[in-house]
Amino acid sequence: MAEHPAYPVGLRLTGRRVVVLGGGQVAQRRLPALIAAGADVRLVSPDATPSVEAMADAGEITWERRPYAEGDLADAWYALIATSDTEANTAASAEAERHRVWCVRSDDADRATAWTPATGHSEGVTVAVLTTDARHRDPRHTAAIRDAVVEGLRDGTLVAPHRRTRTPGVALVGGGPGDPDLITVRGRRLLAEADVVIADRLGPRDLLAELPPHVEVIDAAKIPYGRFMAQEAINNALIEHAKQGKAVVRLKGGDPFVFGRGMEEAQALAEAGIPCTVVPGISSSISVPGAAGIPVTHRGVAHEFTVVSGHVAPDDERSLVDWPSLAKLTGTLVILMGVDKIGRIAETLVAHGRSPETPVALVQEGTTAAQRRVDATLGTVAETVVAREVRPPAVIVVGDVVGVGPHGTA
Ligand SMILES: C[S@@+](CC[C@H](N)C(=O)[O-])C[C@H]1O[C@@H](n2cnc3c(N)ncnc32)[C@H](O)[C@@H]1O
Repeated sequence: MAEHPAYPVGLRLTGRRVVVLGGGQVAQRRLPALIAAGADVRLVSPDATPSVEAMADAGEITWERRPYAEGDLADAWYALIATSDTEANTAASAEAERHRVWCVRSDDADRATAWTPATGHSEGVTVAVLTTDARHRDPRHTAAIRDAVVEGLRDGTLVAPHRRTRTPGVALVGGGPGDPDLITVRGRRLLAEADVVIADRLGPRDLLAELPPHVEVIDAAKIPYGRFMAQEAINNALIEHAKQGKAVVRLKGGDPFVFGRGMEEAQALAEAGIPCTVVPGISSSISVPGAAGIPVTHRGVAHEFTVVSGHVAPDDERSLVDWPSLAKLTGTLVILMGVDKIGRIAETLVAHGRSPETPVALVQEGTTAAQRRVDATLGTVAETVVAREVRPPAVIVVGDVVGVGPHGTA
C-alpha cells in the first residue's frame, strides 16, 4: 500500500457523517478540525478526555458511550480509528475497507487508507504537508515544514504572489512596545507588503532595518510641517502616498488608539476617501509593566487598572484627568508620558488620599535591550526620577501590584 505516494485531496465534510472510534488524545487533537469542517461527527468510545467530553456536552459531536461494534462505519464517509484496543482497530479498519470508507488509523499508518497531513492556515489558504511514504514517516519533519511555510507566509519572509497582493490604502499598524517580536502577525505581513512606511520614534524600529531597499521609510517626526500642525502634515503625507497607489503602512508604537492619535489619522483618511485598515497592537500600558515583572492586576491586590496620560500636570487647565478621584481608587494607576510631571502627579495623589508609601515603579524603554526599572514610592518618586536620571519613554505604575512579582521591592 505504501509503495506509491498518497494522493492529496481536500474532503468537503459539511453535514457528512464522520465516525471517530476512541475518545483519547488522538481524537482530542483531530476533532476540532472535523468540527470546523462542518462534519456530522459520531464518536464511539466507552470514555473520553475532558476536552472531548466538553465537545459532546456542547453538542459539537454526538457521543455513544460504548466500544466499537460491527456496523458502526456503515454510514460513514470517513473514519478516524484511534482506540487503545488493537483488535478493535483491526476489525474497524477491515469494516472500513469492506464499506469503502477512507480511514485513518492512529496505531498503524501502514494499514490505514488515509493519512492526516500536518496542517496550518494563512490568509485563506490551508497548508497541508504529507509524508510521501509510510515507511519513512517523520511527523516532526512534516510539522516543521508546515510551520516554516505558515510562519513564512504570515511574517512575509515567504512571499507567494497572488492576485490581491496588497491591502489598498493605508494600514494603521500598532507595532507594540518596541521588541520587534511583539508586533502582530498581521502587522508584520502588512509591513512586508508596504511601499511606504511612516514610522514613529517609539515602537519596533528594528523592523525597519529589515525592509527591502525599495521601501521608502519616512520618520514621522521629520516630516516638515511648515504652516500645518505636525499631525496635519503626517495626515497629508499618508493621503498623498496612498493617492499615488502605494501601499502605505503607518507604523505606530503600542496600540494606535491608546494615546496614539490613530483615530485622527483614520478620520483624515476617511475624509479623503482612502481605505484604512486598523491593526491593533500590544499597548505599552500593559506590556511594559509586564516585561518588568509587574502585573497590572493581581488577585487579592488590584481589581482594576486605569491608564492615564501624564503629559500635562494635574493643575494644568488642559488636563482632562480627574486626579482627585483617581487618588481615591485603590487599584493600579498606569501613567504614560508622565516622567516630566510625576512630581506634581504624586503630590496631587497624596494630597487627595493616596498613601505616600504607595509603591511606584518606572519602567524605561520597556521590552527593548535598554529596559530599566526604577522603584520608588509616591513620597520619593520626584527625587528618585532626578537622582536615577529616568528618561522618557517610561511607563509609571502606581499601586501595590508593583510589589507582587519576583522583582518587586515593596
Ligand atoms: C504617545 S504615547 C503612545 C502609547 C502607545 N500608543 C501604546 O499603546 O503603548 C507614548 C508613551 O507610551 C509609553 N511607552 C511607549 N513605549 C514604551 C516603552 N517601550 N517603554 C516605556 N514606555 C513606553 C511612554 O509613557 C511614552 O511616553
